[in-house]
Amino acid sequence: MFNATVYAERREKLKKSLGSGLVLFLGNEESSINFKDNWYHFRQDSNFLYFFGLSLPGLAAVIDVDNDKTTIYGDDLSIDAIVWTGPQPTIAALASRSGVRHTGTVKDLTLLLSGASQGAQKIHYLPPYRPENSLKLSAWLEMDQQTVSKGHSIPLIKAIVSQRSYKSELEITEINKAVDITADMHLAAMTLVAEGKKEVEIVGALHEVAIGAGGQLSFPVIFTKNGQILHNHYHGNMLQNGDLVLVDCGAETTSGYAGDMTRTFPVDDHFTTRQKELYEIVVNAHDTAVKALAPGIPFREVHLTACKALTEGLKGAGLMTGDVDEAVAAGAHTMFFQCGLGHMMGLDVHDMEDLGEQYVGYTETMKKSTAFGLKSLRLGRALEPGFVLTIEPGIYIIPELIDLWKSDNKHAAFINYEKLESYRDFGGIRVEEDFLITESGARLLGKPVPKTVAEVEKTRVESKGQLSPNF
Ligand code: GLY
Ligand code: MN
Ligand code: MN
Repeated sequence: MFNATVYAERREKLKKSLGSGLVLFLGNEESSINFKDNWYHFRQDSNFLYFFGLSLPGLAAVIDVDNDKTTIYGDDLSIDAIVWTGPQPTIAALASRSGVRHTGTVKDLTLLLSGASQGAQKIHYLPPYRPENSLKLSAWLEMDQQTVSKGHSIPLIKAIVSQRSYKSELEITEINKAVDITADMHLAAMTLVAEGKKEVEIVGALHEVAIGAGGQLSFPVIFTKNGQILHNHYHGNMLQNGDLVLVDCGAETTSGYAGDMTRTFPVDDHFTTRQKELYEIVVNAHDTAVKALAPGIPFREVHLTACKALTEGLKGAGLMTGDVDEAVAAGAHTMFFQCGLGHMMGLDVHDMEDLGEQYVGYTETMKKSTAFGLKSLRLGRALEPGFVLTIEPGIYIIPELIDLWKSDNKHAAFINYEKLESYRDFGGIRVEEDFLITESGARLLGKPVPKTVAEVEKTRVESKGQLSPNF
């Protein structure tokens, strides 16, 4: 975790922007796999991490803005627990690490909230995304589940988004570490892939890189020869020459910051002519989007710029026809690119998504579209220095979508269905990297990973299924 003053300063800022009320932060609990003491990997809530830095289960905190008092709540371990866990820091010792002087037990918190919920002071809390925290809120605030789910504080959400959206130098250092480890995961994948290996063998190696670096995965690995399935977590296929594999993975540092990158490359040493043609269209859309990144530019425009670059390329490949601007305005390109160009990234891989996409990625005057394609664009608002985001264009050939649209003759003026039929088993391509918006443009985060056809093929030829010497 960072120095205590970092958390104290973040809380001061939050108090100033809220002005009044009680702010209740719930840390996460252990989450059971199949019985109470058999847990999934523990992950602290990112807002709790941001304001308190403590990554242990069973904690909560209250900032009483009116009385300028912050308290961390939790129960010290009993000897029964210590027998299993060994001695752990007391709640008071933990609190001092985040610059908090006051502590209380869970019972103290229950009493405080029961009193406060009858009083005049506004209790601000965030939308709970774990059922156990909804249940706690319901009991503590004496509300039914439905009232709890509607009672979160919009001013608190807005105040937090306006802090967490701007990454500090300390945070950028952490994100860089996460992306460097993520780059190592990709180098491992790009060098280990070989005909006859199973997808799951490579997935195991990616886990090893992330966990071996002291952290975790920032989201479940996507490693697949069926890259057209956007969030494909099946890893049971055997790799064969001729396949294209899509690897979307990320590491999380010990401090909780995420990386998120994608590479797509052939199981063979070289791309086929057809794979190369579509791959270069995606790389060109990626580079075009990166060049468009600058403070003040709405990310929605960058997304549409990338969509036009993809459409231009697909026209060149004979898969689309007609006027590029008209095709993108009509949404015809979403046959090939059904999702958004990118999202914020930080303590969460999709940063702050628990707070609501409308508040994180859009504004009062810019609402998220409900149109196919744009409804999956998580970030639309104007970019500002300090934002960290991903750029991840792709081409995904989804047979089910071809069949549906073709039967409706949808966008037939822009899509060459006859040629597309011969691509129906092509798969998918995505190229994803992480960027910091600066005063003058954007900076790539983490160390570079082979991306052009020449770079990728060189790495594939040299590796022969062995780990790269650069790794
Ligand atoms: N890894 C999921 C995404 O790229 O958004
Ligand atoms: Mn991403
Ligand atoms: Mn990704």
